Amino acid sequence: MATVVALVSQKGGVGKSTLSRALAREAAAGGLRVKVADLDTQQGTSVDWHRVRLSVGLEPVVSVEAFATAAQALAAADGFDLLVIDGPARTSQATLEIAKAASIVVQPTGASLDDLRPAVREFHALVKAGVPAQRLAFALNRIGTEGEEAAARAYLEEAGYAVLSGCLFERPAYRQAQNEGRAVTETRYVGLNAKADALLQSLIDRIGE
Ligand SMILES: Nc1ncnc2c1ncn2[C@@H]1O[C@H](COP(=O)(O)OP(=O)(O)OP(=O)(O)O)[C@@H](O)[C@H]1O
Ligand SMILES: [Mg+2]
Repeated sequence: MATVVALVSQKGGVGKSTLSRALAREAAAGGLRVKVADLDTQQGTSVDWHRVRLSVGLEPVVSVEAFATAAQALAAADGFDLLVIDGPARTSQATLEIAKAASIVVQPTGASLDDLRPAVREFHALVKAGVPAQRLAFALNRIGTEGEEAAARAYLEEAGYAVLSGCLFERPAYRQAQNEGRAVTETRYVGLNAKADALLQSLIDRIGE
């Protein structure tokens, strides 16, 4: 049985696809057989990214496939060690179905209160619907400064949830890398790659637990 990690959020553009791709890339580099299930059938952004990655011949190759539901993705996960569900920005109902199928649910969030408040509400709703809180973790993305990171982390921990260590700063180089079929751990900048790597490693460590 594949371990299932789901990236979810109601908000769009918070980094679900960015972190799904990077997790898949890093897990594959670590020797795991990984599949990304792109559940955003309208946009298919990870499917598009995968096509670019293949066309420029980047290694390791990760498998990416579009599915309409988490159940369909699970049914196709035989033979893989890790299934990464790249969720759509949608209603709590769709998020709940995905979260129930996953052993780790990661919600990326920005640092503003406008981002943090609904993000916490979303996890509260999942817990209320029966998803164990220990399965849930936040990932800080599009952060401006270390002070901003610390304040956002404190807010989320205060709300009772785990926050992955590390974060991604808001950097054009992360967009540029992904435009070229690369993950955020594969930019042209050693420092940015190391920062991204630390965040992804803290997620991979959780998978191993
Ligand atoms: N740390 C960052 N710095 C700069 N750009 C970023 C960063 N994280 C994500 N982006 C960019 O922001 C956009 C949205 O990110 P992404 O597609 O990962 O979000 P998403 O949550 O999957 O969005 P959607 O809800 O539309 O599926 C992308 O163009 C991505 O390259
Ligand atoms: Mg996406």
